[in-house]
Amino acid sequence: MERTHQNGTLSLKNVGEKVVLVGWVAKRRNLGSLIFIDLRDRSGIVQVLVKEGLDIPDVRNEYVVQVFGTVKEKDVENKNLKTGAIEVVADKIILINKSQTPPLIIDDVTDALEDTRLKYRYLDLRRPSMQQKLIQRAQIVKAFHTYLDANGFLEIETPLLTLSTPGGARDFLVPSRVHPGNFYALPQSPQIYKQLLMISGLEKYYQVARCFRDEDLRADRQPDFTQIDIETSFLDQDQLLAYMEGALAKVFLDVKGIKLPLPLRRLDYAEAVNTYGTDKPDTRFGLKLVDVKSIFVNSAYEGFKTAASIKAIVIPGVASTSSRKTLDELNLIAHKYHLKSVTPLKVEAGVLTGSFAKLVSSSESHKLFETLSLKNDDLVIFAASANNTDVCFALGAIRTFYARQLNLIKPETFDLLWVVHFPLFEKNDNGQLVSAHHPFTRPCDEDLKYLDTDPSRVYAYAFDIVINGYEAGGGSLRIYDHDVQYKIFQVLGYTEADIQRKFGYFIDAFNYGTPPHGGLAFGLDRLAMILTGTDNIRDVIAFPKNLASVCPLTKAPSPVDQQQLDDLSIAIVKKE
Ligand code: AMO
Repeated sequence: MERTHQNGTLSLKNVGEKVVLVGWVAKRRNLGSLIFIDLRDRSGIVQVLVKEGLDIPDVRNEYVVQVFGTVKEKDVENKNLKTGAIEVVADKIILINKSQTPPLIIDDVTDALEDTRLKYRYLDLRRPSMQQKLIQRAQIVKAFHTYLDANGFLEIETPLLTLSTPGGARDFLVPSRVHPGNFYALPQSPQIYKQLLMISGLEKYYQVARCFRDEDLRADRQPDFTQIDIETSFLDQDQLLAYMEGALAKVFLDVKGIKLPLPLRRLDYAEAVNTYGTDKPDTRFGLKLVDVKSIFVNSAYEGFKTAASIKAIVIPGVASTSSRKTLDELNLIAHKYHLKSVTPLKVEAGVLTGSFAKLVSSSESHKLFETLSLKNDDLVIFAASANNTDVCFALGAIRTFYARQLNLIKPETFDLLWVVHFPLFEKNDNGQLVSAHHPFTRPCDEDLKYLDTDPSRVYAYAFDIVINGYEAGGGSLRIYDHDVQYKIFQVLGYTEADIQRKFGYFIDAFNYGTPPHGGLAFGLDRLAMILTGTDNIRDVIAFPKNLASVCPLTKAPSPVDQQQLDDLSIAIVKKE
């Protein structure tokens, strides 16, 4: 098809040139005898001027047209358009295809509900702001490819139909037709394969890897998502992190033009949790947690006197506007972290007020003023519990809540740090010991002695890259000793038979000269979210699922034909 330019690339440099353009009609305005058409393609929008007397087809929004014309400087520049200094005076317009009236406004901003946008995703993706996000996502992938290729990493694909292995999330299962009653699983990540590739001697691997996890969805989670997955041999943690920082620096430079100051800051897990109340802190704002346990050792309030951990956070300038409703909201946040409530105090006219204030002695009050540098109109929120992690996480969530409410976060600013030295294990909601990352994470040498006696004291060579409060990637050095790997499975409660059935092929490989190795996976979708400034992961995925794990466009998942089920020897049993 004849076409000389991309619409969004035209500028004063093209004035006087004859051009042939194609695209969609973004807008048509009739001004007396003149018609103005905004013509859109992937590169942008240009205004087409149809002068009186030119015979053109009837064009409406979203019609596809070809325009023959001449570029002219505009008398008055349209500052809202990249091409606003010029317009194209049409000689001829050919109608290529018609469109029905679209069910959503196709513009940077649309008022359509998200499910409508997802149902008509092909139209939603015509919106320039959406196209920009996908363009930037592609630039991120390209920057990784360029960097990793230049640094000797080899791109290798691993299977999508694989063995089900218990991980953090549920597997998506794929029934085998040839082997009735048997199932493949879609990979939650290529973890085991990439480690096997290191045992194979491939040394530096990467893959733009699709991963599948059947878990509850959130604003930053999808059931199928993409990782930039990396594994290396013979590198220690510092060497590995230096490579990963190099990759991030390349991405930020190429996509945002930002030069990252390297090396990135590192924060111990314990410090992150105790200071920011999360293992993925956004350190663009303060509101740090302060330990006040020592102030309340003799508290008149039994809850404080007996609590193993008491922490406080000070929110300046909100005491006078905080109501009962605010407190209810804070308590709701606290409930999520197993706390019954939080305890507020206000600072008014130089004294502490609020129902808890009468239980605070004058010496405690004095110490609080000093330790927390209290000022009038400060709201102090205390959390107390036998469990320090619950206290920290509850106040961490309240910290984020206020940062948003008080607009403490400057947009288009980036805060990158490593969180390192994670515990190897954590307890799940049923009190069972589970891996904090995954069972292949290498315990710190000095903690190996606690594996049998007190696994909670074992820390790991594990690290997360945190950007603007998101976990944008995570990795670790791996166990490369057969016996240590076996031991970890045992500590996690696997029987010998379980280990053989689920991981036998993997730990067998450890017997054949396994190199020290380690790696990391960046969450591509999350990186794209952060770099494009959206807080919704669905904005950076062409065809995402909604929060109910449904694709409103295709309606997947859907029932299948009885014949398909029969072929797979599957019968559907309705649960009561
Ligand atoms: P992990 O489970 O931490 O590690 O995943 C790595 C990164 O992937 C992203 N991510 C997700 N993004 C969108 N939707 C999801 N459901 C989702 N789950 C995870 C996050 C996360 O940091 N194999 C290990 C990596 C390794 O050890 O090398 C792994 O998968 O950004």
